[in-house]
Amino acid sequence: MADKPKKGLADVVAASTALSDIDGQAGRLFYRGYDIHDLAGRTTFEETAHLLQYGSLPTGEQLAAYGTELVRGRKLGALAEANIPEITEKQAPMEALRTLVSLAAGDDPDKDSNSPEANLRKAARLTAQQPILVARYHAARTGTTIAEPDPELSIAANFLLQITGRTPGEHEVGIFDACLVLHADHTMNASTFAARVCAATLSDMHSAIVAAIGTLKGPLHGGANEQVMRTLESLDPSAVAQSVRDRLAAGEKIMGFGHRVYKTEDPRATHLRKMSQELAEASGDDKYYRMSKEMEEVVFETKGLYPNVDFYAATVYHYLGIPTDLFTPVFSVSRMSGWTAHVIEQHADNRLIRPDSEYIGERDQKWKPIAER
Ligand code: COA
Repeated sequence: MADKPKKGLADVVAASTALSDIDGQAGRLFYRGYDIHDLAGRTTFEETAHLLQYGSLPTGEQLAAYGTELVRGRKLGALAEANIPEITEKQAPMEALRTLVSLAAGDDPDKDSNSPEANLRKAARLTAQQPILVARYHAARTGTTIAEPDPELSIAANFLLQITGRTPGEHEVGIFDACLVLHADHTMNASTFAARVCAATLSDMHSAIVAAIGTLKGPLHGGANEQVMRTLESLDPSAVAQSVRDRLAAGEKIMGFGHRVYKTEDPRATHLRKMSQELAEASGDDKYYRMSKEMEEVVFETKGLYPNVDFYAATVYHYLGIPTDLFTPVFSVSRMSGWTAHVIEQHADNRLIRPDSEYIGERDQKWKPIAER
């Protein structure tokens, strides 16, 4: 008989990876051995994606070559392009991305190959296209036309320009770029696990990414950042503490708090809190930052829970002018770098992922013909 399952697979080591590592007790996160405190604000998202997908921080030459590949990869194929208007009309942002990435597989010249070279090319194209898909979705629903992506601009700068319609300042670009770095990979989180399960059947990279996007969408995972903003908007600024206490007393979960692995502050939240404060001060309206701080204090006092990555990411994106329902898509823009790297890693040393289950249903049932049931 199988062992008792660990609900939610807590503490189960499901894969070996050289991509990222968490020290949950100390609150530390590493990408390929680099502490994210050393990467955020110093290494661009493009360098981080290269680190994850290729295994090393790029030299100047490697970065130039990878940058060229990313710029070329921004061009959408005919199938995705043609379907944006109708998909935008019928699907919410994360649903649309799930569909558009699936369509992008049909446009991808490497769609039928799982070779390491093809996977690296697909990883670059998927990383380049995800922000464009989000921007094009937003443009379609707002009836605006966006300029072709500027090849001189980074992924972060181009995204902010395409979403807000104005040239972002250097400080904003730096902050958003660091946000993308902070969200790039996170060990065996639910969406990465979903991607690896799919890839382990020797299915293709786009299928694995579609599984990951569907998994990221849920409010217990990537969907939490949008819910944090909705919570802030729903609270009376003069009664934050009491409302949060009431919600907790009623057994409600407060989105953006708690974590399966971190037993102390999520190291990404440390950066995001600071960014949120800086942007709030620069905007001249720090209401949501102050409310967030108050929420943080009350949730810690009442439940001993720390904010996770999604909590301060919400106000950071809000201050950057990103619409609330695009917060989770932004998460996917960054995590694409990690998901694709995990698919490459899974294919490089594959075994089907097929765990066991504990049977808790009836046994020894006696079959009866339909008339006697
Ligand atoms: N608000 C209130 N209580 C919370 C909480 C939250 N955000 N997160 C956890 N808890 C409580 C649970 O109610 C539970 O209490 P109980 O033991 O009295 O029933 C306990 O802490 C353990 O929570 P559980 O949901 O079992 O932990 P988990 O490891 O399965 O889940 C999360 C981890 C992240 C899913 C969970 O903390 C959560 O739902 N957070 C909110 C959603 C979120 O921000 N997700 C983004 C994660 S990066």
